Amino acid sequence: KKKMILDVDTGIDDAIGIILAVKSRQLDILAVTTVNGNVSLDTATLNTCKILDLLNEQDISVIKGADSPIIRSPFFEHRIHGEDGIGGALKDVPVKKQPDDGFASDFIINSILNFPGEVTLVMTGPLTNLALAVKKCPQITKLVKEVIFMGGVIKGVGNVTPTSEYNTYVDPEAAKIVLQAGFASITQVGLDVTRKVLLGEGHIQLIQNHELADYIRQSTSDYRKRYFERNGIWACAMHDPLAVAIALQEDLVTREEYYVDVETKSELCDGQMVCDFQNRLMKQPNAHVCLDVDAEAFFDLFIRIINS
Ligand code: BDR
Ligand code: CA
Repeated sequence: KKKMILDVDTGIDDAIGIILAVKSRQLDILAVTTVNGNVSLDTATLNTCKILDLLNEQDISVIKGADSPIIRSPFFEHRIHGEDGIGGALKDVPVKKQPDDGFASDFIINSILNFPGEVTLVMTGPLTNLALAVKKCPQITKLVKEVIFMGGVIKGVGNVTPTSEYNTYVDPEAAKIVLQAGFASITQVGLDVTRKVLLGEGHIQLIQNHELADYIRQSTSDYRKRYFERNGIWACAMHDPLAVAIALQEDLVTREEYYVDVETKSELCDGQMVCDFQNRLMKQPNAHVCLDVDAEAFFDLFIRIINS
């Protein structure tokens, strides 16, 4: 089994990513680490615990991390993820699972040092925890098996500002540190591909487990409505589940290596991801950039796993 740490800011799609990772049974989840992002650190942690309760998987560790970006203030997305961060689903459900002791970035460092070459990191929130880990222990970049992160947009437009995707917008300094750290293998999963993976009612109807189907239907309801109002389709993008899915089935996406960086000093473009497609900067590639995705294959995998 692949050893994995899943780092999340549990909003609606992170939660579905956790469900996918846990239900796959293909992963040895060392912990789910949490970070400030869509919602506060405490809410992200609470939501993560609620999802593990829903899955009846209280033995998986949940470890809290950074409660704010490296130098900036938090910027929540309640507008999209709802007041509670998971679209109002599980609102009044009592929580059994409690977070474990420790700090996310230390846990990330120790896991990589304990299992050199074996740990895959899947990051679906702002990259704060990993940036802190790299700053404290730079050698992890050579000892980690792989980093897969959901963040940025390469060719398209942003989803927070005209240029910037949410995760890189919230903590651009962290994204910059991570991209420049020299990781042996890092895959960028941006809006260019995640926007093509749209979950609709048709998919939800294929889910046999009623509890999970109800949860996913309810938690994504406003999210899908919002997408409908803008695009005329009742659906929502599976941003974070796609990052998890790539760890399970690498051929879901087409990747190419490029030099990628993030803007941190612009009033208008902070958080913008820049991909040097034509090698104008003459720098070594530092990331595998996802350029295309087989959305149908994603949903085949997704439904098969959820129904297993
Ligand atoms: C990303 O931002 C968050 O709102 C989602 O959970 C996802 O990680 C998409 O831009
Ligand atoms: Ca997220």
